[in-house]
Amino acid sequence: MHRTAGFTDNKALIDWVDEIAGLCRPDFVHWCDGSEEERAALEKILVDRGAFIPLDRKKRPGSFLCRSDPADVARVEQRTFVCPEREIDAGPTNNWVAPMQMRARLASLFKDCMRGRVMYVVPYSMGPVGSHMAKIGVEVTDSPYVALSMRITTRMGERALKALGREGSFVPCVHSVGVPLAAGEKDPSWPCRPADTHIVHYPESREIWSFGSGYGGNALLGKKCLALRIASVIARDEGWLAEHMLILGIEDPQGEKTYIAAAFPSACGKTNLSMLVPPDGFEGWKVHTVGDDIAWIKPGPDGRFYAVNAEAGFFGVAPGTSQLTNKNALVSCRAGTIFTNTALTDDGDVWWEGLSAEPPAHLVDWRGEDWTPGCGRFAAHPNSRFTAPAFQCPSMDPDWENSGGVPISAFVFGGRMSKNVPLVCQAFNWEHGVYMAATTGSEKTAAADSTEDIRYDPMAMLPFCGYNMGDYFAHWLRMGRAVPKPPLIFRVNWFRRDEAGNYLWPGFGQNLRVLKWMADRARGRVGAAESPFGFMPFHEDIYWKGLRYSREDFAELSRIDAGEALREAERQRLFLEVFARMGKLPEEFTRQQRMLVQRLGRCGSDWSLPRK
Ligand code: GTP
Ligand code: SPV
Ligand code: MN
Repeated sequence: MHRTAGFTDNKALIDWVDEIAGLCRPDFVHWCDGSEEERAALEKILVDRGAFIPLDRKKRPGSFLCRSDPADVARVEQRTFVCPEREIDAGPTNNWVAPMQMRARLASLFKDCMRGRVMYVVPYSMGPVGSHMAKIGVEVTDSPYVALSMRITTRMGERALKALGREGSFVPCVHSVGVPLAAGEKDPSWPCRPADTHIVHYPESREIWSFGSGYGGNALLGKKCLALRIASVIARDEGWLAEHMLILGIEDPQGEKTYIAAAFPSACGKTNLSMLVPPDGFEGWKVHTVGDDIAWIKPGPDGRFYAVNAEAGFFGVAPGTSQLTNKNALVSCRAGTIFTNTALTDDGDVWWEGLSAEPPAHLVDWRGEDWTPGCGRFAAHPNSRFTAPAFQCPSMDPDWENSGGVPISAFVFGGRMSKNVPLVCQAFNWEHGVYMAATTGSEKTAAADSTEDIRYDPMAMLPFCGYNMGDYFAHWLRMGRAVPKPPLIFRVNWFRRDEAGNYLWPGFGQNLRVLKWMADRARGRVGAAESPFGFMPFHEDIYWKGLRYSREDFAELSRIDAGEALREAERQRLFLEVFARMGKLPEEFTRQQRMLVQRLGRCGSDWSLPRK
């Protein structure tokens, strides 16, 4: 089944593949075409190796459960590097090693690392094939799991090579699990080398090298590595935005459509919001999904920003996904899906915490051990995921593959904050919005190996910006001047809690009430109260049909404790100081900081939502 380079005439690509094969010394080189036969062959390899457990043919046709090594379950931020020539170009938020030194380190890790294995050449397009916004990447990998996952999450195979053509350029991505095999040696079901893992980006030569991990964002190099870290650098140079954002369209009963792009840190609700199901009271409304994780956004000829989904599938968080919270996600993974680190039911299906209120009486957990309710362990890993093709999602927008993208009316930023961050506020203007986005914080989740309880995650890009974040702030400020009327900017928080720890806001489908207010704001149809944080909806401005939510509860959700907010403003200043020290803090931020403190100083001990 090992196809050779016969089907491309791109000499640069052929030469590069030869060079990498010479370094890694695989037994075979297989060029992926993306066909059904190839899919079946790759699946068989993984089933034979014991890595893929076929799920019940009726319940989950064409789907598999895959258990990773327990030491390889999430992105590894401490082992992720951005390596431009100068350290200042990586900035204070990225790990940096001088490229010469890193290249020497990688050369010894990659030398002969694919012995006994097949090297798959995976050509792919990020963005609709042939779109002026798309980019071609080619990942060589010794992991069939990666090749299959790329087949689902990107436009992979022959069509990408065709788009590349003879002379086209591509982003080279080298991936190895780092476990060569001696003749006759048995392959572990999930080979990896956690102690030697390196996820490396060279932004200047636009190369990606990943060693030692087979997991998600560490190994599917089109996603976080190309579409965010490398693309953010290209976007800075070319005048567009590569963002950790979902894209959705809301359509009112009259058929008027408004598109919104929203950035939340990992595991903070992008997939859920992008597939939102309108709640009771929203009869005649529709929500259309364009993307759930990565948006590429460019100024269009009509002076608006246009966004495309860089991906073609989902790598979504499984726990918490249910018929009640996200039924579109469940339909998306009804077939042809790879589940990683979920639990297995006795009848050959998958299960995770939150899928049903009552867990099954017996499961095999994500490590392959017997599990019964109350045994004290998670059945599914908290960062277990489903890999499913986007076309299976019932809410996909008819325009989701439109090569020109969809016009964006609002940018939304959010995080997981238990206290003092209101449900929604609108920035006074672009500059204020960029400051607000840059100072968004969020509480810890399982999607990464970070150790802080709360961390600032500017634009949800902290782990994904491929250059100095101070320059990235300046780029955002500049982009507001690239079009005559930039989108409105909002900050949201679905995760505020009361003293007892209960969420104050029901979230999920009910978030449409907030999105509707944003769309109305974008069209100048609704009022707002002016708070120290920005414009906030009066209780009367939110459409409440179908939900009883009292004025008092809404006031609590909107309340600002001025003392706490001032302490927070000081923490923001300290967080941004590191950029100031290297001369990378835009002066606009200093001004915004000062104005925030002044507004808070004027509002007494508390700001409460007035009556309209
Ligand atoms: P990445 O794929 O890691 O970038 O994450 P994501 O931002 O797409 O996160 P996702 O939508 O998968 O949500 C992660 C978790 O947040 C799940 O456990 C959800 O159940 C939970 N969640 C999502 N939306 C809401 C909400 O509106 N309210 C509450 N309380 N929880 C939510
Ligand atoms: C995230 O962590 O933001 C993800 C999953 O979307 S991963 O692909 O692992 O980065
Ligand atoms: Mn993500």
